[in-house]
Amino acid sequence: MLEPLHSRFEREFPFTAHDFNRVRSLIYRHAGIHLKESKEHMVYSRLARRLRATGKSTCRDYLDYVEHDEVEWQNFVNALTTNLTAFFREPHHFSILAEHLKRLASAEPRRVLTIWSAAVSSGEEAYSVAMTAVEVFGTLTPPVKILATDVDTQVLRIAEKGVFTRERVEKLSEANLKRFFLKGQGARAGFVKIRAELRNMITFRQSNLLASDWQVNGPFDAIFCRNVMIYFDKPTQYQILERFVPLLRPHGLLFAGHSENFHHASRFFSACGKTVYRVADLTERQEAIDG
Ligand SMILES: C[S@@+](CC[C@H](N)C(=O)[O-])C[C@H]1O[C@@H](n2cnc3c(N)ncnc32)[C@H](O)[C@@H]1O
Repeated sequence: MLEPLHSRFEREFPFTAHDFNRVRSLIYRHAGIHLKESKEHMVYSRLARRLRATGKSTCRDYLDYVEHDEVEWQNFVNALTTNLTAFFREPHHFSILAEHLKRLASAEPRRVLTIWSAAVSSGEEAYSVAMTAVEVFGTLTPPVKILATDVDTQVLRIAEKGVFTRERVEKLSEANLKRFFLKGQGARAGFVKIRAELRNMITFRQSNLLASDWQVNGPFDAIFCRNVMIYFDKPTQYQILERFVPLLRPHGLLFAGHSENFHHASRFFSACGKTVYRVADLTERQEAIDG
């Protein structure tokens, strides 16, 4: 018989090894997220909040409920994702992006450039891309469109609003704060809101990288897929990378997170900078497009 894990800690709800494994298998199958053994406490505390919110008294009841209720299913997924992000996280990527946009704009001045942020979390990444484009083109309405997706609907709601606390933007320069945000007044003091022009460059939508159809219209000039692959195992990463190939324009850039590397998929991508990749073989790309 499995030992109830709560016997080792004083816990509000029983949480057995079987419950933990059931959670791991559900989230792995749905979102590709591989929860390590060491995440047991984190999982318990996130789940406990959902048990309280739904009035369930055991994890088993809660998980039975989750499997048959679409709304709670999404809450369950939202509860298990890790959404850490920041404006201009990994700043060197934005200098590389700026150079890339400049090159494209001078080669094809009339084309609208497109960028996909494939695990955007609460929006900071997509807004940093938008700010970079504004800088490059010297206008608040540059010819750049950004698609921003995530599996988590709760963070997408935050991203769509574009409202952030002052602490979230404290690393931005005063000049950029003035240029890209409106300061909250009265009850909204302590908050800033992204300017409508930047917001309008971005389409936010739910998309699961594990789904068979991402419903995205490529090809893109760049894909940001940062700090999400670390939650996936190598075969899952490989499949996603293969599917990125036809979604990038020739010479398009793929940005990865600081602790991610795609060397195991060198058939599809080769490094062209610190955690930046290009399609390895353009023939491979053409074949993927031709089917
Ligand atoms: C740590 S955040 C990274 C945010 C941003 N890309 C960055 O680097 O700052 C990881 C994001 O990946 C999202 N995520 C996890 N699994 C996903 C999946 N299967 N499909 C799409 N997004 C996923 C999470 O919801 C979370 O918002």
